Amino acid sequence: MIEFKNVVKNYETGTRALDGLNLIIPDGQFLFIVGASGSGKSTLLKIFTKEEEPSSGKVIVNGLDITTMKKRKIPYYRRSLGIVFQDFRLIEKMTVFENVAFAMHVIGAHPREVSSRVDYVLNLVDLRDKSSRKVRELSGGEKQRVGLARALVNNPGIIIADEPTGNIDPAMSFDIVNLLSSINECGTTVIMVTHDITLVKMFNFRVVEISHGRLINDNKKVVKIE
Ligand SMILES: Nc1ncnc2c1ncn2[C@@H]1O[C@H](COP(=O)(O)OP(=O)(O)O)[C@@H](O)[C@H]1O
Ligand SMILES: [Mg+2]
Repeated sequence: MIEFKNVVKNYETGTRALDGLNLIIPDGQFLFIVGASGSGKSTLLKIFTKEEEPSSGKVIVNGLDITTMKKRKIPYYRRSLGIVFQDFRLIEKMTVFENVAFAMHVIGAHPREVSSRVDYVLNLVDLRDKSSRKVRELSGGEKQRVGLARALVNNPGIIIADEPTGNIDPAMSFDIVNLLSSINECGTTVIMVTHDITLVKMFNFRVVEISHGRLINDNKKVVKIE
């Protein structure tokens, strides 16, 4: 379970990005976070990934308060998260395979494991036949499927995606959320920020809305896997 308790974030500029936010995310849930630009969505995710520290409040992940976590524990915590970015953040001159394999190398995976695991996740995102293509030759939708494969390769318990469909067309966006949805069906918690309400409405998942750093709407369509 993930619990945000009264989280406040004031940036040095004086902007209050989160203003006492409370949110509970059960294990195995698929959660859409929506809200206007500047409402605090990315800040919420950055606090969760420990890119930013809250000014006050707590974030409890599986019983652990991550806001007081020791620095040396942060890399291990991050390994339990799979992160998908709006701008893909792939290495364009490397192949699809190399991009995904790289994420396994950096955590010190055994080279023997890498090849079969990378093939497996590339198959999941339907990219096995593009494995040896350079990323720069791919379409936006394909790049994001590589991003998804990379996020999945170390088998994280939680996937976090900040506007993952922000740079791809509507049909491809639907595919990406469909893929996230099938990953969620296997028990992975998925938290996806988007401002694409049309896309959100195509799925029957919980939707929370943030405005001025507070949760203002929670439709309670809770999909929970025991
Ligand atoms: N690093 C930062 N320094 C100062 N202000 C920031 C920073 N990041 C975001 N903000 C401000 O905090 C508010 C919330 O931003 P953000 O969390 O990025 O919103 P969203 O993702 O919903 O568009 C905005 O007013 C934004 O300008
Ligand atoms: Mg944002």
